[in-house]
Amino acid sequence: MRDKGLIFTGLVLFLVLITFPVWYDLAAGTTSKGPDPKLPTAEKDCVAPLEYMRTSHMDLLLSWRDQVVRQDRLTYKAFDGKTYDMRLTGTCLKCHTNKEEFCDRCHTYVGVAPYCWECHIDPALAQRSRG
Ligand code: HEC
Ligand code: HEC
Ligand code: HEC
Repeated sequence: MRDKGLIFTGLVLFLVLITFPVWYDLAAGTTSKGPDPKLPTAEKDCVAPLEYMRTSHMDLLLSWRDQVVRQDRLTYKAFDGKTYDMRLTGTCLKCHTNKEEFCDRCHTYVGVAPYCWECHIDPALAQRSRG
């Protein structure tokens, strides 16, 4: 059994690799819990119920865009009777003021990078680059 040592090394290597996420989290002091987006503290509700926003905010945004750009409809009546301007920067980022700690945290976590910011402004970023 000249291969014994090799097999053993292989086994150890396999175990290290398969448990790597655990070691990595321990070493980095993080957990694999989730993206932990930072919610607004000043407001209680979003423009739609939480569950809907969680799964379908992208559909809502595209619907807002189409209504504004194609149908010239500018305001949205929310589930709680409040009305909002249908605007990405002007409305969403007015409550979710920190795009990096909110939108980006989830998106980085799931590996999506919405291209909206090629045109729409992230006020925090705009301010930083101004000086
Ligand atoms: C190529 C540039 C460009 C990109 C990329 C883009 N938009 Fe827009 N968007 C515009 C322009 C121009 C308007 C019209 C602005 C107006 O009428 O005030 C607009 C309007 C909107 C509006 C309504 C008005 C407002 O100020 O928000 C929404 C909502 C919107 N876009 C969402 C999105 C979303 C979501 C994405 C990414 C998935 C996106 N847009 C990507 C250029 C862009
Ligand atoms: C009036 C303030 C306000 C506006 C405007 C607003 N939000 Fe929210 N949003 C909140 C609050 C507060 C919560 C948390 C609600 C809760 O915990 O029930 C939230 C929750 C969310 C969530 C779910 C977060 C999670 O932890 O699962 C998403 C996604 C979201 N918002 C996206 C958006 C988008 C996109 C827009 C624009 C279309 C928007 N929000 C506009 C206040 C707002
Ligand atoms: C709770 C987590 C979470 C938060 C917070 C969140 N998103 Fe998302 N978002 C997602 C997920 C997950 C997807 C991908 C869905 C898919 O691929 O089907 C996504 C996709 C999108 C898309 C479509 C991108 C594409 O390429 O298809 C847009 C636009 C978007 N989000 C905008 C926003 C904006 C603006 C905010 C902040 C105001 C935000 N999201 C906050 C989880 C989140």
